[in-house]
Amino acid sequence: MKAVVYEGARSVSVNDVPDARIKQPTDVLVQITTTNICGSDLHMYEGRTDFETGRWFGHENMGQVIEVGDGVGKVKVGDYVVLPFNVACGYCKNCERGLTNYCLTAQPKKEWAGAAYGFADMGPWAGGQAELLRVPWGDFNCLRLGEDAEEKQTDYVMLADIFPTGYHATEMANVKPGDQTVIYGAGPVGCMAAYSAIIKGAGKVMVVDRHPDRLKLIEEIGAIAIDDSKVDPVEAVNEMTMGLGADNGCECVGYQAHDVEGHEHPNITLNRLVQSVRFTGEIGVVGVYIPQDPGASDELAKQGEVAFDFGEFWFRGQKLGSGQAPVKKYNRRLRDLIAGGKPKPSWIVSHELDLDRAPEAYEHFDNRDEGWTKVVLHPAAALAG
Ligand SMILES: NC(=O)c1ccc[n+]([C@@H]2O[C@H](COP(=O)([O-])OP(=O)(O)OC[C@H]3O[C@@H](n4cnc5c(N)ncnc54)[C@H](O)[C@@H]3O)[C@@H](O)[C@H]2O)c1
Ligand SMILES: [Zn+2]
Ligand SMILES: [Zn+2]
Repeated sequence: MKAVVYEGARSVSVNDVPDARIKQPTDVLVQITTTNICGSDLHMYEGRTDFETGRWFGHENMGQVIEVGDGVGKVKVGDYVVLPFNVACGYCKNCERGLTNYCLTAQPKKEWAGAAYGFADMGPWAGGQAELLRVPWGDFNCLRLGEDAEEKQTDYVMLADIFPTGYHATEMANVKPGDQTVIYGAGPVGCMAAYSAIIKGAGKVMVVDRHPDRLKLIEEIGAIAIDDSKVDPVEAVNEMTMGLGADNGCECVGYQAHDVEGHEHPNITLNRLVQSVRFTGEIGVVGVYIPQDPGASDELAKQGEVAFDFGEFWFRGQKLGSGQAPVKKYNRRLRDLIAGGKPKPSWIVSHELDLDRAPEAYEHFDNRDEGWTKVVLHPAAALAG
């Protein structure tokens, strides 16, 4: 089968790799129809993680079931399914509590937790930017879709990661009807956090970034764009909230956050959030931070340490939640909202391409080139004829 193989920093190619196949009776084999490139792939693509060369990416996957193991009962051949990016067993201590983001079985390292398809440090699971994907614990991990699956695939595929992840950011930040919410980052995840805040009835949603195309998308859903290349975002938020700061905030950028000149400062969005959120406000951090970052430019960041302004944070009595999103906690409800014709998360999709065009898509998305907001790949177009 064909897959988007990582060759080293800023290099991917579409190559032949061994076909994914059923290995355990609980496995499901999916022919991938739709798979996205994510900002998380870019940390790996840029060589800023220990993702191994020769492996392939792809954790935002949807497709049609073509084979099931003997131990699979619910999922049937022919079903359209969307897969949470978290690979989870369903029966470990964390999965039992709904924390499928920190599964203890799917992560082979004893001292760690959490697994994902095609992801650095998240277990051996192959990615879905390929024609076929092996889904372990298939009955648990597959979310089945209805008859509108094919027609709405660019909406439903967002259930694999960014829609539930954006929603999770607003859950950790405790966004409620009428709230004033600030979001740092207008990438796909920030867009979904803003969308989720609006779905929850937030009164004012303010989103900080500096890319005009992304800020325009934000305005399309009725959020307020703040361009931090033109204004001080902390001052702008404070002015829009009677000097008090937002009720809550979401971090949707991660450790490669940078200033408008492009210099990385892993603390910049965290410290700005603390200052843009009111005393006792809550903050959800879904942007990725990592324990070690050898590719960072300063010594502190190389050790994965961030100069977080804990004094200001404590003084304000704020709360902060962090980590990978437990997709399974939200994907069913968000699926039913999409099925009911309400949200259309595909509004952020800028490109739908064949798998063969993945290398150029990575290059453009990585450069945050104008108009490249979210790329959806369709590997199985060739298989389906
Ligand atoms: N926790 C999870 O489960 C989870 C899931 C998916 C993605 N993520 C992470 O979320 C983050 C965002 O993902 P994405 O797909 O939207 O990525 P992206 O890289 O496309 O978007 C990031 C955006 O942040 C902006 N930005 C950079 N520095 C900024 C600053 N100082 N202030 C404001 N904006 C700034 C960039 O201009 C860009 O538009 C990544 O770190 C990704 O790995 C986490
Ligand atoms: Zn993702
Ligand atoms: Zn588990």
